[in-house]
Amino acid sequence: MSSTPLASAAAPAFAPDVPGPIRRFLAVPTPAAWLAAVPAQVDRLLLDHANCEKKAASSALAMLYRYPDRPDLVYRMSRLAREELRHFEQVGAIIAARGIAWAHVPASRYAARLRAEVDADEPGRLRDTLICGAFIEARSCERFAALAPLLDAPLAKFYRGLLSAEARHFEQYLALARAAHGSGLDTRIGQFRDLEARLIVTRDEHFSFHSGPPVRRPA
Ligand SMILES: [Fe+2]
Ligand SMILES: [Fe+2]
Repeated sequence: MSSTPLASAAAPAFAPDVPGPIRRFLAVPTPAAWLAAVPAQVDRLLLDHANCEKKAASSALAMLYRYPDRPDLVYRMSRLAREELRHFEQVGAIIAARGIAWAHVPASRYAARLRAEVDADEPGRLRDTLICGAFIEARSCERFAALAPLLDAPLAKFYRGLLSAEARHFEQYLALARAAHGSGLDTRIGQFRDLEARLIVTRDEHFSFHSGPPVRRPA
C-alpha cells in the first residue's frame, strides 16, 4: 500500500458505527478525500447506490443459476436478492421524492476490478466470487457508516438503517466461502484485501459509491 499516493496521507479511523468484524476484514477505512467529495455529490451517490443495489440483486441471482446443486447457497442468495431489490426500491423512492432526474452513472471500476481477479475455473470461481461478495458488502457497510454524519437527517437515518443488513450480507458471503473452501481461504482473502484497499485509496476518474477519492481537477 505504500506505493499509492494517498496511503501515506493521514488516514481517518473507521467510523464508530462500523462493526468489529468489518474493521478487521477491511485493510483501510474510507479516505478523508472521498468523504470530502460527498456533500457536492449526493444526487450522484444516490443514483449510483440504486445501481449498486440492482447489481447486488443480479449477482445473487446469477449464483442461483450457476450453483443449483448447492441448496444452502441457493436459499441464501434468493433471500439476499429479494432484500437487495427492497433496498433498490427504497433508494428509488428517495430519488423520486427528491426530484432527482434518473441519469446514467458510469459503472465503477471497483466491482469490475475485483471481479477481474476471479478465477475462471471451478472451484476457484465460486471461492473468489464469494470473497468478492464479502468485500463489496463489507465496504458498503463501512461507507454507509462513514457517510451518515455528512448527510441530512433523513438520509443519515436511511443509511444507518442499512448498516446491519449489509453487515449480515458480508457475514453470509464469508460463511458460504468458508463452507465451500475451508482450507487456504485466508491466503486468497488476503490477496483480495490488498487489491480492494488499493482501489479504495487510489484516485478515481469517476466519483461513485465504491470509488477511490476523485481525481483533482485543475482550479
Ligand atoms: Fe443492499
Ligand atoms: Fe447487500
